[in-house]
Amino acid sequence: MEKRLSTTIWFGIITVGLTLFSAFDTTPGGARKNHQKPSIFDDKLQKAAFEILDAKCNVCHRKQNPFMVFKEKNISKRAKKIYRMVFAERRMPKGNEIRLTYEEYATLEK
Ligand code: HEC
Repeated sequence: MEKRLSTTIWFGIITVGLTLFSAFDTTPGGARKNHQKPSIFDDKLQKAAFEILDAKCNVCHRKQNPFMVFKEKNISKRAKKIYRMVFAERRMPKGNEIRLTYEEYATLEK
């Protein structure tokens, strides 16, 4: 049981790590990006964004704003609002307890 849990956690860390790594890949000429199918790349990015929203935003929204709980399916539709709240008006994440790291901001902005 304990072993399964830690395997799951490691898998999660590796997935996020790989996603961030490919998001920040700066191979000269963008050679790698051109070989990647955009749809697969978007899928990964969406997953990474969702993981951030779930960890840093849903924890509070579930209690305080249940109409704005983020799911993988609704984040595209809500992207504009998310962008406005987090980047334009900087009202979210609300309060001082939850902070996004630089990488999380970068992933979310994309
Ligand atoms: C500590 C609690 C808390 C956290 C953390 C939090 N929110 Fe919120 N959020 C709220 C509350 C409460 C509201 C509704 C009232 C308001 O707008 O202040 C809200 C509203 C929103 C809205 C709706 C605004 C609108 O115009 O309808 C969006 C979008 C949003 N949050 C995005 C986010 C994102 C993205 C994050 C994470 C990066 C986040 N929030 C983190 C509490 C939180």
